[in-house]
Order: sequence, then structure tokens, then C-alpha cells
Amino acid sequence: MILLDGAKVANERNLRLKEQIEKDIITYKRAPCLAIILVGENPASMSYVKGKGKACKLVGITHELYRLDESISEEELSTLIIRLNQEDHVDGILLQLPIPKHLNETMLIDLISKDKDADGFHVINQGYLYQKKPTVYPATPKGIMTLLKAYDINISGMDAVIIGRSNIVGFPIARLLMDAGATITVCHRQTKDLAAHTKRADLIIASAGRAELVTKDMVKSGAVVVDVGVNRVDGKLVGDVHFEGVRQVAAYLSPVPRGVGPMTINGLLENTYELYLKHVK
Ligand SMILES: NC(=O)c1ccc[n+]([C@@H]2O[C@H](COP(=O)([O-])OP(=O)(O)OC[C@H]3O[C@@H](n4cnc5c(N)ncnc54)[C@H](OP(=O)(O)O)[C@@H]3O)[C@@H](O)[C@H]2O)c1
Repeated sequence: MILLDGAKVANERNLRLKEQIEKDIITYKRAPCLAIILVGENPASMSYVKGKGKACKLVGITHELYRLDESISEEELSTLIIRLNQEDHVDGILLQLPIPKHLNETMLIDLISKDKDADGFHVINQGYLYQKKPTVYPATPKGIMTLLKAYDINISGMDAVIIGRSNIVGFPIARLLMDAGATITVCHRQTKDLAAHTKRADLIIASAGRAELVTKDMVKSGAVVVDVGVNRVDGKLVGDVHFEGVRQVAAYLSPVPRGVGPMTINGLLENTYELYLKHVK
């Protein structure tokens, strides 16, 4: 089994990005800037935001963190987003999800300028993606595609099974894999027999958010398995794939942690950089 080492691939790409940004700062007289909005004190979100800030620093992207109280009103948050949309030095805006229930997530995401949408979640950018037009891709699907490419995995002609149909992972990765030539099946909670689908898959993308949902008996020998899930079990991070079992049958397998997570952060950094280039050029 070959480990799909997201940490290694992301580090290499981040290093290249850092060198590029160093040159661009001389040309364009300023560094790229990402504004990160965090509402409330969800421990997982706080840890993700910390990681994103650290990664920005590493590659030379300036980041501004807006830490807002759990009780912030929709109007106040909207005012902040509109202000950041207008700030000339801000290239990308990220609203860390999930946000408290009293705030309208879809409305707020779509309020972020599509030209500063570092996460690629804006309805217009998702529309471009589904119409195969150049756009900002959501960071996780982008990171997965980059990871598969880094290991020269030829997606064309593969039977790909995606577990999960969310707007930020399952659905966009299905689109990108289809564009790359895979025949796709998207599974979800209403899927009658998940194992019947996964067993015949050349490529499995596990993004259900269910600890160790994919077991050895569900995977065809020689399959490529990408584990997107992040689940906390007894204080430990566990993916959606039973790693020890599946490693015995898969040809390629991404670990959790150090698999898709670092690739997602790399995707976010590259998105911010692309938005910056469009902004300053
Ligand atoms: N590593 C990273 O960088 C990264 C980035 C993003 C997300 N994640 C992780 O990836 C996972 C998915 O994230 P998400 O935002 O897409 O989650 P989500 O919005 O909760 O979506 C989960 C999807 O999985 C499906 N699902 C849940 N249980 C299932 C089951 N037993 N069998 C088949 N399908 C099932 C759901 O089906 P229904 O549609 O029928 O409800 C839904 O479509 C989470 O663990 C999240 O933490 C990791």
C-alpha cells in the first residue's frame, strides 16, 4: 500500500508558494491578505483557525483574525463582511464554519464578494465549477485532486464512489472527478447498500463524517482510498476509513491526520494567492 502523504505534498507546495510570494511582494509592493472570521468558541473551529493562521504565516500571507462573540447579530456580521469586501488590502475572506444557528449561513457566505471567496463556497463560484468554468475551487476537493495528481493516479476511466454529498466536499469532488474522466456514484444516508457500491470502486472518497465507516470488506483489492473524515473518538482523531484493515487491500490510502487535512490548507493558501494575483494585477 502506498500512503497518500498529504502532509509531504502540502509542505512541498507550500514551500514553492512561499518562494513565489516572496517575489510577488517585491513586484506588487504588498503580501496577499486573508481575513478569517471566527464566531464563537467551538474548540474544533478554534483549532482549525489557528492552523490556517499558522500556515498563512509560513508562506508569507498576512492574515487578520476577526474573533466575534457567539451572540453577534446577523446585521453586525453582515456589516463586517461588507466592510472587508471593500477593504483594498484584503484579497480573501473566510467565514469559519459552522456558525451559530441564529445566523443564516448561506446568506452570509454569498455576501462575501465572489472575488474574495477564499473557500470557494459562494453560489456564483460553485455555479462556475458546475459549468466547468475557471473559478475558485473549494479547498478540500481542490486538495484531493492535487494529492491524486501528485501520485500520478490516472482518474480517467475509474469507477469512483463518493460517500457524502455536501456542498463543500462530496458534491464538488464528484464534479471534479467526473471532469477528470471518472464514472461517479455519490452515496449518502439514503443509499440502500453502501458496501455494494464501494466494493466495485476503483476510487473511494470517504467524506461522511462517520468514524471508520469504510472497512476492509467494503474495499476492492487495489483500490485508491481517500479519507476525508475527521472524527474525534476518545480524544483521538479518526478518519472515515478503518485504516489498519483497509491498508491490507488498498493500493493507495490517505491517513488521518496528515492526509487530506494539510492538502485542504494548501488549497486555501493557493486560493488566497490566486485571488491576490487577480486583485493586484
Ligand atoms: N480533512 C479536511 O480538511 C476536511 C475538510 C472538510 C471536511 N472534513 C470532514 O469530512 C467529513 C464530511 O464533511 P462535510 O462537511 O461534507 O459533512 P456533512 O455536511 O455532514 O456531510 C456528510 C455527508 O455524508 C453523508 N453520510 C453521513 N453518514 C453516512 C452514512 N452512514 N452512509 C453514507 N453517507 C453518509 C451525509 O448524507 P445525507 O446527505 O443523506 O445527510 C452527507 O451527505 C467530516 O468528518 C468533516 O469533518 C475534513
